[in-house]
Amino acid sequence: MDRIIIRGGKRLEGKLPISGAKNAALTLLPCALLTDEPLTLRNLPRLADVDSFGHLLNQLGVSTTVEGSRPDEFGRVMTLRAASISSTVAPYDIVRKMRASILVLGPLVARGGEATVSLPGGCAIGMRPVDLHLRALEALGAELEIASGYVRATAPDGGLKGGTIRFPFVSVGATENALMAAVLAKGTTVIENAAREPEITDLAKCLIAMGAEIEGLRTDTLTVHGKERLHGATYSVMPDRIEAGSYACAAMITGGSLELTGARRETMPSIVSGLEDAGGIIEDVPGGIRVSADGAIRPLSISTAPFPAFPTDMQAQFMAMLTLAKGTSLLTETIFENRYMHVPELNRMGADIEVRGRAAIVRGVEKIHGAPVMATDLRASMSLILAGLAAEGETQVARVYHLDRGYERLEEKLQAVGADIERASDG
Ligand code: EPZ
Repeated sequence: MDRIIIRGGKRLEGKLPISGAKNAALTLLPCALLTDEPLTLRNLPRLADVDSFGHLLNQLGVSTTVEGSRPDEFGRVMTLRAASISSTVAPYDIVRKMRASILVLGPLVARGGEATVSLPGGCAIGMRPVDLHLRALEALGAELEIASGYVRATAPDGGLKGGTIRFPFVSVGATENALMAAVLAKGTTVIENAAREPEITDLAKCLIAMGAEIEGLRTDTLTVHGKERLHGATYSVMPDRIEAGSYACAAMITGGSLELTGARRETMPSIVSGLEDAGGIIEDVPGGIRVSADGAIRPLSISTAPFPAFPTDMQAQFMAMLTLAKGTSLLTETIFENRYMHVPELNRMGADIEVRGRAAIVRGVEKIHGAPVMATDLRASMSLILAGLAAEGETQVARVYHLDRGYERLEEKLQAVGADIERASDG
């Protein structure tokens, strides 16, 4: 396994390119199942999860071709074609490694009338059930059978039928599965209490490019007028708002200034306001935003919640930044039940964080020091990288395969703006 070694204390300055969004890519890829024509996705990030999803789609009969890109380029162009579906089974050994595999469920049932998908099970940050995904499909007429850790969904004769889906609380993935199922259902579907994350809007815009008819984009009520079939399209993945927010924290924690090329302010409103409340200066620049530290980091009180509120995927990164704030911060994680695994590792670096249930009290310290630490999940790993950038001395982050799931060529991007960071293989 690889490790990342950082010698902290360097002020980061310069331009840093933001890649295509992981959480948009993982819901755009299964759209290929909804048509027998080619779907070309541009600005696809080079990430382990994107590769895994491509392999899963190959197993279902989707051909994938990647246009070559220069080694110094970020992102790729992938053309996917599901001329026919050769399998409707998403096996446990794939789903257990990548939960987003559940997003083939809706498209498979919509396209071919059936799907057998392993239930993903829990993960490091929580139980993460998929009951809302299943209820959404049932609302469109699917019959479900759960046995031996798999769910088998079958559409009635004649296919899925439009209906009303009312989510009791916001679920990004369930909204995505519902949308991808509804676009080929007969009649109109209304999705109430839909997630409003920018990745949902990106999905809807891609489906519309493929011929779908969807109203209510960016709102919590989506109306879908089902079509007989969809056609191919070329669509560009939106920039990653969480990657942009993560590197913004790198600028703040090192007292630096980074121009995040490709970042879109309108996709990260609460991240930007959080950075400004912490004392950051956010400026619009051509094609992106510049984030600059401006003196001491100010303490914050933040609760995670669905978009447009502060995203759970930024909680660990903000916590790393706030370990050095002039004062005490309060973070409250309301989405996942176990998303504080970065806390013990940050405390080993000299941070002063106390977890009480869903709340984390972060007492700012003068400095943190490098240490050998271990990544436990994707965003926790990034918080350790951020702490290492500011720590005195050397930090070694083990199990960086977590990072490779969500951050494209992280050490290259950070080296280019002055970080003393490298990857070492444990052989
Ligand atoms: C997506 O996960 C993201 N992943 C997550 O990002 C992100 O943290 C999450 O949305 C919240 O924004 C991808 O897009 C691939 P949810 P998802 O359904 O869809 C519960 C990252 O770091 N729930 O909105 O799985 C669930 O347990 C990852 O990039 C049910 O109870 O999240 C959670 O408590 C981590 N039943 C809450 O809802 C369901 O059927 C929100 O989950 C579905 C979800």
